[in-house]
Amino acid sequence: MRVHVQVPATSANLGPGFDALGVALGLHNEVRVSEATRVTVSVEGEGAGLLPTGEDNVVARGVRLACEAAGRRLAGCAIQCVNRIPLSRGLGSSAAAWVGGLVAGNALLGAPLSREALLTLAARAEGHPDNVAAALFGGLTVACGGADGVVAVPLPVPAALGWVALVPEVMASTAEARALLPASVPHLDAVFNVQRVALLLASLQAGRTEPLREALLDRLHQPYRLRLFPWMSDVAAAARAAGALGCVLSGAGPSLLAIVAGDAPAVAEAMEAALRRVGVPGVARVLRVDPVGAQSRVDEP
Ligand code: HSE
Repeated sequence: MRVHVQVPATSANLGPGFDALGVALGLHNEVRVSEATRVTVSVEGEGAGLLPTGEDNVVARGVRLACEAAGRRLAGCAIQCVNRIPLSRGLGSSAAAWVGGLVAGNALLGAPLSREALLTLAARAEGHPDNVAAALFGGLTVACGGADGVVAVPLPVPAALGWVALVPEVMASTAEARALLPASVPHLDAVFNVQRVALLLASLQAGRTEPLREALLDRLHQPYRLRLFPWMSDVAAAARAAGALGCVLSGAGPSLLAIVAGDAPAVAEAMEAALRRVGVPGVARVLRVDPVGAQSRVDEP
């Protein structure tokens, strides 16, 4: 049997929702997995020639994790990846690899694990739950790690919103971007973010877009990460001048995500031009929200 999994790119944090919010975007990796006598991995597209092609490949580790959690053994598997999510850009390529492997492994075994169980496994493997929750559930999700696993709740996303991802041609390490964050923050900054993340969720729930101008601001991670991405403020200002409601660091960067109620292509153009002015090449794409998340089907019985 061969299973086919499609898994979306994700943008985590959305400004104030550090390690809690994520949105799934309409840019997908494909994973095909069939049972075999040993583990082999082929990679086409993003990461070809860079990603490992043996047991240490993250998709292969995800398949193995699903088998272990289900208490089943798989001698090996043949994995074919077609990757469209750029690597190390803050668009959830590693979350997509864990989720792709877990969902494929689970499908190969006849789906013994629930999506909630897969979420907890993926969040533990990834180290934070925001990208993996959006990749699994689709749409905009709130995720929270608790004593009994990860709880995730999807939220409605107003159809009037446009999403623009600016992807610079530089890679960044999530570990490095996390190492820049302080162990504690001023109480005032915590309150600032609590107010904004609550306003963001209430606005989305109510289908109101104007409050997002305030609700997308953050003091918990972006100010500290400016050191890695000093051009962030200029590009965000250009996005807002072109009509974006806000522009945030996508996950741990370097990509930026603008949220737009009006002309998304104009915002994309303004962001690209602002990045070019500081001498960094990059491409902005208008993306839709993926409302469903990772999907699997049987390719060959
Ligand atoms: N919430 C994580 C971070 C997302 O900002 O470090 C990483 O993709």
